[in-house]
Amino acid sequence: MSTNSSETNSSKTNQEDISRKDLARAVERRRNFAIISHPDAGKTTLTEKLLLYGGAIQQAGAVKARGEQRKVTSDWMELEKQRGISITSTVLQFDYKDITINLLDTPGHQDFSEDTYRTLAAADNAVMLEDAAKGLEPQTRKLFEVCRLRNIPIFTFINKMDRPGQEPLALLDEIEAELNLATWAVNWPIGSGDLFRGLIDRNTKEIVLFTRAERGKQSVEKRLNLGDPEVKELVEEDLLEKALEEIELLNEAGAEMDLEQIKAGELTPVFFGSAMTNFGVKPFLDTFLQMAQGPVARNSNEGPVDPMRETFSGFVFKLQANMDPRHRDRVAFIRVCSGRFQKDMTVRHARTGKSIRLSRPQKIFAQDREVVEDAFPGDVIGLNNPGMFSIGDTLYTGKRIEYEGIPCFSPEIFSWLRNPNPSAFKNFRKGVNELREEGAVQILYDIDQAKRDPILAAVGQLQLDVVQHRLENEYGVETRLESMGFQVARWVPGGWPALEELGRIFNCKTVRDSWHRPVLLFKNSWNLNQLFEDHPELELSSVAPVVSGVDPITL
Ligand code: G4P
Repeated sequence: MSTNSSETNSSKTNQEDISRKDLARAVERRRNFAIISHPDAGKTTLTEKLLLYGGAIQQAGAVKARGEQRKVTSDWMELEKQRGISITSTVLQFDYKDITINLLDTPGHQDFSEDTYRTLAAADNAVMLEDAAKGLEPQTRKLFEVCRLRNIPIFTFINKMDRPGQEPLALLDEIEAELNLATWAVNWPIGSGDLFRGLIDRNTKEIVLFTRAERGKQSVEKRLNLGDPEVKELVEEDLLEKALEEIELLNEAGAEMDLEQIKAGELTPVFFGSAMTNFGVKPFLDTFLQMAQGPVARNSNEGPVDPMRETFSGFVFKLQANMDPRHRDRVAFIRVCSGRFQKDMTVRHARTGKSIRLSRPQKIFAQDREVVEDAFPGDVIGLNNPGMFSIGDTLYTGKRIEYEGIPCFSPEIFSWLRNPNPSAFKNFRKGVNELREEGAVQILYDIDQAKRDPILAAVGQLQLDVVQHRLENEYGVETRLESMGFQVARWVPGGWPALEELGRIFNCKTVRDSWHRPVLLFKNSWNLNQLFEDHPELELSSVAPVVSGVDPITL
């Protein structure tokens, strides 16, 4: 009897050891990142090249090819939009060498919405992609600010080096001065545009030569030692000298490589290359994967939760309705944060305390879905959402935990939402409340309680289109939008008392958010700056503090 029980115990311990080892191995080999860039910088092109290395697609050009395009890019969403259904970003998972990469897609400007920001809440690393000719652009700056909120490591890829661009030193200066982010160039370009000859690897002191290929063809990367006589034949002396002088300058005056600073999001490694010709992409990917951080501990009500926590936990960072128009379904995207997720497991929903069996978890590769058997920290799974999940919700097994919520990001488009048909008010109210709960849009209210119409506040026009469309299709209410003409919103951390102390504010409208907190709306940033000048003591925030344990105002 005792032998039996000790056998059972030891086999249990063995099994626990094996599953712990599995978890450790899975965590160690996971890397998760999002690409932040402005439209046209080359995100689709770079993504395609990365997928190519991961074997997730078979041929260059597949992303752009018609049939494949809908599978790999988020451009398919534009098509879905024309058909009037909702749109959000996707997650691509692929293996490269012995690493499992989760690439979180952040849609371009037409698809830009709060989901784009929220996706960054699920990312452990970000790749900031710049066009060498344009440098930092507005959408990149906005996305960068969101990364900064969580201090996630940023890796910079300066693209389109095969075309005339800005001086590389000026590009680094811009990042340092405008983003307050130190830079450390991993490689350095020799020439640019028609005179682009390749890169100098600062670590190995090798030259990676660029050979110009026909448009659409891959360039072949040839490596030579700096001292190799062939270099002189292939690279003009003045170009090489200039590049070496610039490197010398960086060695003397630039930041040093410091992994801790990179991990803290204070220093960005910078890579130069050309995604279209697939030049510099592989060296980038290899170095990036070495330096990028694996799944990180996330803050919860119980303190930081280690990915190696044995029991499963994760949080909802994105909800998407009608992904598959044939089924009119809703999907909640969960970022796995700890433990192993297994199909059919029963988890707890922290907000309601309910138990749920997760029977059809999915991995979603654009429109293709695959049922997931298991998933590990850093992975993203899609769950069918029968309406119970909201943005920021925690799912867990074992001891109760609740992850820190996801903040509301600063909206830039504000419209009254009118319901011209009073008999449809009940449905209107239901729709508005449910869409707010889902996180489709932020809802603000006038401080004059007699003006009951809600104000829709969004970061992209698309969000408003989706809300109107869904109110009509899912709740049967036709609505009218009336633009308010504001572009900037700021929360007041000091709340109503701070505003009262201030007295009358000019060129600004005060409204309430769904938690009855004051929000100031401005027509432009000039008016906002004027307020700062008049009241330098006033504290304002572009991001709404996370709410917990308070019921929202409903319509
Ligand atoms: P996005 O997803 O960030 O919006 O950009 P995308 O990859 O679609 O690239 C935008 C344009 O820039 C594309 O050209 C693409 O071919 C080009 N591009 C991307 N990387 C490079 C590069 O390294 N060098 C050069 N010269 N061009 C690059 P397009 O004309 O809009 O499309 P297509 O004709 O290539 O399909």
